[in-house]
Formats: sequence, C-alpha cells, structure tokens
Amino acid sequence: MAGYVVVGTQWGDEGKGKIIDVLADRADYVVRFQGGNNAGHTVVVNGEKFILKLLPSGVLHGGTCIIGPGVVVDPKVLLDELASLETRGAKTDHVIISDRSQVIMPYHVKLDELREAKEDGLKIGTTKKGIGPCYEDKISRYGIRMADLLDMAQFEEKLKRNVEMKNEIFTKIYGVEPLDYDKILADYKGYIEKIKHRIKDTIPMVNKALDENKLVLFEGAQAMMLDINYGTYPYVTSSSPTTGGVTTGAGVSPRKIDKGIGVMKAYTTRVGEGPFVTELLGEFGEKVRKIGGEYGAVTGRPRRCGWLDLVVGRYATMINGLTDIVITKIDVLSGLGKLKICTAYEIDGEIYESMPANTSLLYRAKPIYEELDGWDEDITKIEKYEDLPENCKKYLKRIEEIVNCKISVVSVGPDRSQNIHIHEI
Ligand code: GDP
Ligand code: IMO
Ligand code: MG
Repeated sequence: MAGYVVVGTQWGDEGKGKIIDVLADRADYVVRFQGGNNAGHTVVVNGEKFILKLLPSGVLHGGTCIIGPGVVVDPKVLLDELASLETRGAKTDHVIISDRSQVIMPYHVKLDELREAKEDGLKIGTTKKGIGPCYEDKISRYGIRMADLLDMAQFEEKLKRNVEMKNEIFTKIYGVEPLDYDKILADYKGYIEKIKHRIKDTIPMVNKALDENKLVLFEGAQAMMLDINYGTYPYVTSSSPTTGGVTTGAGVSPRKIDKGIGVMKAYTTRVGEGPFVTELLGEFGEKVRKIGGEYGAVTGRPRRCGWLDLVVGRYATMINGLTDIVITKIDVLSGLGKLKICTAYEIDGEIYESMPANTSLLYRAKPIYEELDGWDEDITKIEKYEDLPENCKKYLKRIEEIVNCKISVVSVGPDRSQNIHIHEI
C-alpha cells in the first residue's frame, strides 16, 4: 500500500504542481481531494509551461487522474482546461470526476465577486472563483453534486430552488440584477453532455488501488496557512488542504496514508489579504518577487514575499505529520547576500514558538530571526547534494533541525528535471 499526500506548507504556490509531476512518473493514480480552480499548479516540461487549475498535476503522465469527492468543480473551467490540454497534444482520457464532488454554479462566482467588491472591511482577497460560496452550499446542504447532473429532473429541481434563493440575495441585499434560471440550465445541459462519461464513483477505485499496493498520490491545493481550521482565519480558503483533508476529501482511511510530503518554498509568499509576519516590504521584497517570478498563476496578482517562516514550518510539520520535505526555489536565494530564517515571534513582549489562534495578534508579531550566510553561485544545474555551495547546505540543515523533518528533495529550477534527490521518496 502506498498512499502519498503532497501538501503545501505555507500560503500556497510552493511548487506543488512541479513536485506532483515529478512523482507522478511512477504513480498509478493522482487524486485532487479539495479546493477547485482557485489552484494554479505549474508544470514545466522542457521549457513548455502548463498551468493546471482543476486537473491533477499528474495529467501529463499515464496514471489515472481523479478529481475527488472533496473538490468543488466548475464544469466550464474543467472543459476549457481539458480542451486546452488536448490542443497541445496531451491525452485526457484518464481524467475522472467523482460523482460526489460539488458543482460550482454561476451564482457562487457572482456572490464571491460581490462580497469581494464590498467596502465593508471583510475583503479576503479571494480568487473570485466561487469557492467559498460553493463550500457554504455544500455544508448547508443546498449543494449540487456531480451525481445530480446525471439525473435531470433532480438537477432542475435543485437548480430552480437555488437560483430563486440566490436571486433574493442578489436583488434585495446587493441590489443587482438576478440570474436567469433558463440560461444557466441550458449552459449546464451543454456541459453535462460533454463531461457525463467522466463522472464515476471514484472511492472503490482509489481504495482498491491502495489495497493492491499501487502508488496513489494525493495532490493538495492551497496550503497549511490557508486551511479553514488551522490557517490565518478568516484569511483562508474554505477547505482542508492539510493531510487530514485526504480522508474526508478522497474517501480514504487515515490508515492508508504512508507519507506526508510537505512542499516548502525556500522563502515565503502569500497572495491576498491577511497577516504575514516575515513580509518584506520595499525594495528587497520587490527584488525577491522579480527573481522568483512571484505573480499568481490564476489571477496574475503580485505575490507578497518574505523570509522563510519556520514557526509556520514547524506548525505544518506537526499538523500534517510530515515524513518528507521538498524544498523549492532555493535557486532564487543565490546572490541575495545574508539570509534570514524566522524561528519565533515576539508578540506584546511574549515569545511564541507555535502559531496563535488569534489572527489579529499576528499583525503585531515581530519576527525573531536567525541570520545565515548566503551564496552567490548559480545552482540551477546542480544534480548532487554534495555539489551545492556549503552555505546552501547549511541553510538546508538548519531548516531540518528547526522543523525536525528530513529534506528529501531540493528543487533548483522550474523544470521537471531540476531536482536534487537526497532521500528516496
Ligand atoms: P503551486 O501552486 O504550489 O503548484 O505553485 P505555482 O505553480 O503556483 O508557483 C510556483 C512557481 O515556481 C511556478 O512558476 C513554478 O514553475 C516555479 N517553480 C517551481 N519550483 C521551482 C524552483 O525550484 N525554482 C524556480 N526558480 N522556480 C520554481
Ligand atoms: P495553489 O494551489 C495561493 C488564497 C487567495 C485568498 C484565499 C481565499 O496554487 O497553491 P479562495 O478563492 O480560495 O476563497 O481565496 O486563499 N488562495 C491561494 N493562494 N495559492 C493558491 O492555490 C490559492 N488558493 C487560494 O488568494 O487569499
Ligand atoms: Mg499556485
């Protein structure tokens, strides 16, 4: 049995897509278990770039790719993504959608946009893809699932009720035009025709594969600090992107998970609102953004950049039960001079080594840094750990010591081939 979960350990965009693609080479299944098209996972193969939003990042390999029960699926986005891959010569026959996954509807997207546009101080900086409103409907039991799309009478009934309810909100609370039920129905009928052959009960498939000792990779989107329970609430997403999310989001027992692989960028980035203790404002932050190409894969927004925060790193190691860490983008640190790692926070005179629940405290937190010597060499072509500059090795060692987890892979560039393998995963 080999169930490996790959998760983000910071605020997303750590390079999960790249790492999944590398590991998917030998995977029988790659399964997304939460989130939706708020994700933007980049895979680079021989200089050619693919950005995957809903499709698992293993899609360029032959293993079966599953959009699992815990995912929220916008069918139009899915069809566009499939078509764009097919145009580029990639195969998509191996993409399956769970019949239990929730369907993102136009009223979810509209509600997300309206809330974000309101000047009420509650802006989260979402991706405006309807993720939060769709998960809200799921929890309040008004959601429409993929299985409903295969039963037209049931779908029409649920859709009618939901459009009526949401139109009340649009017209009475936001004072905007209502949505047209007939148009939504017609559009979705078109989508259903094109995706219905992919909608299946994925749970027996995934469990059987695990029971037969096949390799199943569970692909996390978003990350630790965007987790609905443990992230910087309310500046989080609406799902559980941590390893625990796999059990509820893919229908798999925790006993079947063998490895928790945490992807950690060698520094920190964040998109959207919310506290960010090690944020680098000003020229230096701008420099890191430029060298690291830190612009959102989904929205194009500039990512906020900062030093590596290992209060976050320790928290992510603990909550995810990480067995392995993959460090990415360490090449970006070459030539930046002295480097800093945050090991604790000082808040109102008190030292915190773990993450406080009260997010507002984090706005006052002062990072306590350890300073390390940097290196100047270009490391993007290095293939062996021994060949890395001494100071780079020291930086990696210090991360291992502080978070108490081994680093198994170091990624030194965006391409599939740019990796240093230290321990076998
Ligand atoms: P994800 O959401 O976690 O999959 O990450 P994104 O794809 O949103 O962002 C990561 C960005 O960094 C992408 O542009 C990747 O191509 C790039 N990337 C991944 N690993 C490395 C690396 O080791 N070095 C560099 N320079 N870029 C990387
Ligand atoms: P990947 O998988 C970075 C952030 C948004 C916002 C908050 C809530 O590429 O790492 P949402 O649209 O989910 O309701 O937005 O979460 N966010 C991400 N930030 N990477 C992502 O995904 C993200 N998905 C959501 O910017 O702050
Ligand atoms: Mg991303």
